[in-house]
Amino acid sequence: MKLSLLPLFLFAAISSASPTAFTPQDKTLLVKESVATPHRWTRLGRAPSDHSIRLRIAILQHDFSGLEKALYEISDPDHHRYGAHMSKEEVEKFIAPNSTSLAFVDGWLASYGFQGSDLTRSPAKDWVSVTLPLHIAEQMLGTEYYMWQHTSGDVLVRTTSYQLPRYLHEHIELVQPTTMFTRPKGGVLHPERSAPMTSVNPITPLTKPHVDPSCATSVTLSCIMQLYNAVGYKPRATKKNAIGITGFLNEYANIRDLAAFYRDQLPAAVNSTFEAVSVYGGINNQTSAAGEEANLDTQFAFGIAYPTPGIFWSTEGTPPFVPDGRTVVDTNEPYLDWLDYILNSHQIPQTISTSYGDDEQTVPFTYARRVCQRFAELGCRGVSVLFASGDGGVGDGDSEPATQQCYTNDGKHTRRFIPGFPASCPYVTAVGGTTNIPEISASFSGGGFSDYFARPAYQHKAVSAYLDKLPHKTYDGLFNRAGRGIPDVSAQSRRFQIVWQGERILIGGTSASTPAFAGLVALLNDARLAAGRPALGFLNPMLYKHGAHALNDIVVGSNPGCGTSGFNATQGWDPATGLGTPDFRKLLDVVV
Ligand SMILES: *[C@@H]1O[C@H](CO)[C@@H](O)[C@H](O)[C@H]1NC(C)=O
Ligand SMILES: *[C@@H]1O[C@H](CO)[C@@H](O)[C@H](O)[C@H]1NC(C)=O
Ligand SMILES: *[C@@H]1O[C@H](CO)[C@@H](O)[C@H](O)[C@H]1NC(C)=O
Ligand SMILES: *[C@@H]1O[C@H](CO)[C@@H](O)[C@H](O)[C@H]1NC(C)=O
Repeated sequence: MKLSLLPLFLFAAISSASPTAFTPQDKTLLVKESVATPHRWTRLGRAPSDHSIRLRIAILQHDFSGLEKALYEISDPDHHRYGAHMSKEEVEKFIAPNSTSLAFVDGWLASYGFQGSDLTRSPAKDWVSVTLPLHIAEQMLGTEYYMWQHTSGDVLVRTTSYQLPRYLHEHIELVQPTTMFTRPKGGVLHPERSAPMTSVNPITPLTKPHVDPSCATSVTLSCIMQLYNAVGYKPRATKKNAIGITGFLNEYANIRDLAAFYRDQLPAAVNSTFEAVSVYGGINNQTSAAGEEANLDTQFAFGIAYPTPGIFWSTEGTPPFVPDGRTVVDTNEPYLDWLDYILNSHQIPQTISTSYGDDEQTVPFTYARRVCQRFAELGCRGVSVLFASGDGGVGDGDSEPATQQCYTNDGKHTRRFIPGFPASCPYVTAVGGTTNIPEISASFSGGGFSDYFARPAYQHKAVSAYLDKLPHKTYDGLFNRAGRGIPDVSAQSRRFQIVWQGERILIGGTSASTPAFAGLVALLNDARLAAGRPALGFLNPMLYKHGAHALNDIVVGSNPGCGTSGFNATQGWDPATGLGTPDFRKLLDVVV
């Protein structure tokens, strides 16, 4: 049926004056996606029918697997294409939808009156979005939207199922927000400012002679440089190189705090600042309270990479939100807006650090896959993309308070470890956390195995070696042995000394380790560019090939969670600290 219908529509398209606006007659709706009643959410009443919602539609890309193949070739240090990064247009050629898909989707939207400037498209046209009143979305998707309340009080407008005309199923991968019940964390932060500096946990005696003893109680820029063997490196490619920090959820990076931080820890940088870039109306408000996350990220990433130029993107969009009728537009998690923006740029900073995440299972698989694929686009463009692995050990904070157990939210409520997303995407570098000197795994270091993404070839050897060592039947059923292992690497993650609202505070989490690691990656990119070579781009294939020589293997500690003692840090890769922490000089030898 499907096959015999298609040529007919194509014929209609060819013979009509406007080839992009035709609509097949068969409007039969079939369920595209449905989810179980989400755990911890209660359905309230119907959402107001004039409530405004911004639907994002992901259209089938014609050759993502071609793009993925290219990504792995240009990121493999032993491949002849290593470093041959692609232009915006080259990337878009792979992922653009074919003309049939575009015409069908456009025809469908036009039949509801949406065309031209009503539609916003991603650069490759593989995403289209439209803002419309809820009652029209309900007609188009054959569904009813309700207000849903989370146990925390947050309210979302969502549905547990939506439909699409039969003929669109093979052209549209997903429409959101529909079934997505995520609550992106306001930074995967682990504040430690309530702990006075003298009463932190017992410290292992220092054995690294070149590291200042104070680094055991308070981690400064200088501690990172000492511990990771980067003291004295002088950036030379500051006209070409840059490092970017993403800011979401109204987290503002404060410039006065950065200056105070530099006065304290890096006087040479005191007159320097960063470029704040507004994405879709995001602001970097200097009069309202600074964000701890944004301050931490910018102070450490920019401080380590100094004088490499720093960019802070502030992206508007703060779900969850309370639907109060006409004033708010319901939206997804804000990564997509930022991705639209950045992938539309011709020049992208070579290193980008993000310290935000969701529980993987709260992001519908189709959505997670398409967001993940956009990180592959960044890798192809020559960008090193780093994400925090999360701060809940194997649980990422989703445990039941009473039992400390973690459960699936697929309606079956079975015990399961909860990996974090986007860290679980195989095209990003996930950064876990360590503490102490000598280093051990931080107990909160997010780690484990993706339930969505299969283990990529680049980590197969390292991850299988770990799994082979696990005692028989360990955590059977709690994790996906065939999944992408997290994290890839790690770095110090506790007691980072930053300035926030004019005061020195201590703060931590993989929110700290990620910008610290990224700062060092920016310096490696500096060395590559100064040597006239391309930037590093997607790091993982290189890290898994050479990490054993160029990273400090962490072999003590674990990341308990979900009522278990979690995974142990072991020799080689492990799902608590990944391959280990950086040794900058050794990495330098590998990359230049
Ligand atoms: C476009 O993609 C759809 C969905 O995979 C496929 O059915 C169709 O044959 C393709 N059309 C062209 C012109 O390649
Ligand atoms: C910063 O600027 C002030 C005022 O212009 C100047 O006196 C000072 O030397 C500068 N500091 C550095 C480290 O460049
Ligand atoms: C910045 O924050 C201040 C204080 O919260 C507020 O009064 C002001 O309206 C904000 N500015 C913008 C542009 O939102
Ligand atoms: C972690 O190490 C402890 C002590 O050696 C051991 O008893 C436990 O089984 C290990 N756990 C895992 C998951 O490997």
